[in-house]
Amino acid sequence: MPRYLVTSALPYANGPIHFGHITGAYLPADVYVRTLRMQGEEVLYVCGTDEHGVAITVNAEAERKPYAEYVAHWRDEIKRTFDRYGIEFDVWSGTSVSPPHAELSQHFFARLDERGFLAQKVQEQLYCTRCPRYLADRYVEGTCYVCGHEKARGDECPKCASWLDPLKLKDPRCKVCGSAPERRSTRHWYLDLPKLRDAHIGAWFAGHPWKQNVKGYIGNQLAEIEPRPITRDMSWGVPLPADRAGGETGKVLYVWFDAPIGYVSFTREWAAARGEPEAWKRWWCEPDTRLVHFIGKDNIPFHCLVFPSMLFGVGEGYVLPWQVPANEFYNLEGRKFSTSQRWTIPPLDFAERFDAESARFYLVLSMPESADSEWRWDEFQACNNSQLADKIGNLASRVLRFLEKNYEARLPGTPDEHAAELDRVLLSECGAIGDPGEHVREFRFRRAAETLLANAVAANVYIDRLAPWALRKTDPARAGAVLDTCCQYLALIARWLAPFTPLKAQALWEQLGCNGRVAQAGWPAAPRPGAWRTLPAGQKLGVLGGLFPKIENDAIAAERAKLGA
Ligand code: MF3
Ligand code: ZN
Repeated sequence: MPRYLVTSALPYANGPIHFGHITGAYLPADVYVRTLRMQGEEVLYVCGTDEHGVAITVNAEAERKPYAEYVAHWRDEIKRTFDRYGIEFDVWSGTSVSPPHAELSQHFFARLDERGFLAQKVQEQLYCTRCPRYLADRYVEGTCYVCGHEKARGDECPKCASWLDPLKLKDPRCKVCGSAPERRSTRHWYLDLPKLRDAHIGAWFAGHPWKQNVKGYIGNQLAEIEPRPITRDMSWGVPLPADRAGGETGKVLYVWFDAPIGYVSFTREWAAARGEPEAWKRWWCEPDTRLVHFIGKDNIPFHCLVFPSMLFGVGEGYVLPWQVPANEFYNLEGRKFSTSQRWTIPPLDFAERFDAESARFYLVLSMPESADSEWRWDEFQACNNSQLADKIGNLASRVLRFLEKNYEARLPGTPDEHAAELDRVLLSECGAIGDPGEHVREFRFRRAAETLLANAVAANVYIDRLAPWALRKTDPARAGAVLDTCCQYLALIARWLAPFTPLKAQALWEQLGCNGRVAQAGWPAAPRPGAWRTLPAGQKLGVLGGLFPKIENDAIAAERAKLGA
C-alpha cells in the first residue's frame, strides 16, 4: 500500500497570507489529505514557515525587530489563519526553530560536496564598509542598467522586471545606510545542477508523468540549467558547516537551499515528538511513498528540478516527488492581490463577517488549476446563496423539518417494495453523477466540487419530482420511503462534503442523527442500486438548524466599497 507524504510550499514568515496563497497551495492539499484519509489511505501532511533569506532580514531590520522575533510573529499569525480556515497539518514548524533543521541542512551540503555535486568559485561582490557587510540581493539599490529606473534592487528591477547582476548596477548604494559599496572577493559554493541532471535527474524528469502545466513551465530549463550559488554572505540563516568553510566565516546557506529541506526536518521533528525518532524514514526513504508537493507555479523549478536534485544527490535513498500539483495565479476582481496597495481581503478579518467554510468552497470552485482565475465578490455570494444554501442547506432543512413535524423526528426507513423504484429515480433519472473523490485523487478539485454540487442538484430534482409533502396525505408509507431515501443520500453528501467544508459536513451529519465524526465515517463510493443505504430505520434526528446562512447584497456591496471597486 502506498503512503502519501503531502507538503504545501513553506510560506515566508514575512507577512500575512491571502486567499491566493490559500487556494494555491494549502486548501487543495487539505482537501486532498482529508479525502485520502476518509478513503483509508495513510497520509502525513507537513508544513511550516520559510524563515531565512534577505526578503525577511530587510523587513525585520526596517521594523527594528530581532530576526527571530520577527519570524516568530509571522509563524504564529500565519498559523492562526490556517486554523481559522480549517487547514490542518500533522506538523507545523519553522526553518529557524525546527530542532533538526540546521544540522540536516548542513548534512545535505556536506554530502553533496563529498559526492562531487558542489563547486566553488571566488567572485567579486559589493561590500558596505560602513555597515559592515556584503550586500546580498536586495541589500543594494541602484540605477537599472536596462531601463534606467533609479530604484532597482540588486537582484531585480521592479520597473522592467529584468534579472540584474548587482555588479553592473549604476550608482550602487547600500540600502541600509546609503553609502557607496566597494568590491571585494568572496568564495561561494554552487550546486552543480548540470552534473545532477546528467547523473539522473534529466532522465527521471523526462520519464515522469507530469501534469501539463509543469512540463510547460519547465520548458527547456533542463537543457539550459546552470550551476546555482547556494551560499550567501550574511548572518541570518543556516551557517555553512565549519569544516567546509575553510576559515571563511559569516556565510550561510542560501534560503532556497535550506527551505525545502524543511519538509524533511519537520517530518523528523514530528517523528521525534511521537517518540519514534526513526519513523521519518518510512515517509522519506521507502520507495512506495508518494511524495506530493502542492505549490504555486512560480515554485515549479525548485520542486521539480532543484530539490529533487538535492534529494538524489545526497545518495541516501530519498524518494523523489510523485506529483507536483501546481496552481496558476489567483487574482482579486481582475487585479493582483497586493497587501501594500490594500487590494486584498485579509483572511482573519473576512472570517469575522463571513463563514470561512463558504470561502473554502468558493475558493475550490474558483481554484486557478489550469489558468489564472480570480475571487469575485458577486460570485462568492452566488456560490454561498444559490449553491450551498439553496442546493444543500434548503434541501436538508425542508426534508428534516418535515420529518420532525410529521414522522416524530425519525427516519421512516425505505421498505424493499419501494427501494428499487426510488433508486432508479434518484440514481439514474435525476442525474446523480457520482463520486467526487475520483476527481480529488486526480487533482481536479474544481471538478470535484462541481460533482458534489451536481449530486445535490439531483437530490433536489428527485424531491421535487416525488413531492412527499403532498404524497403523505394519500400514501404516508411511500412518502416516508421517499424522504428516507433522500436522507440516505444527504448522508452521502455529508461525507463527500467533509473535505471541503468540514464543520458544515459535521453539522449535517449530526442533524441526520448520526453519531461520531463524519470524517471517520469512511468515503462512500458512487451509490449502486440496492446497496447504498446506511442509516437505520427509526434513527432519531439531531437538533436542526440552518447550515449556510444567505449573504445579503449589502454585505457584498460594503466589501466592494472597501476595495474601491
Ligand atoms: N517560501 C517560498 C515561497 O513562498 C516557498 C518555499 S517552498 C520550499 O515562494 F520548498 F522551499 F520550502
Ligand atoms: Zn551600508
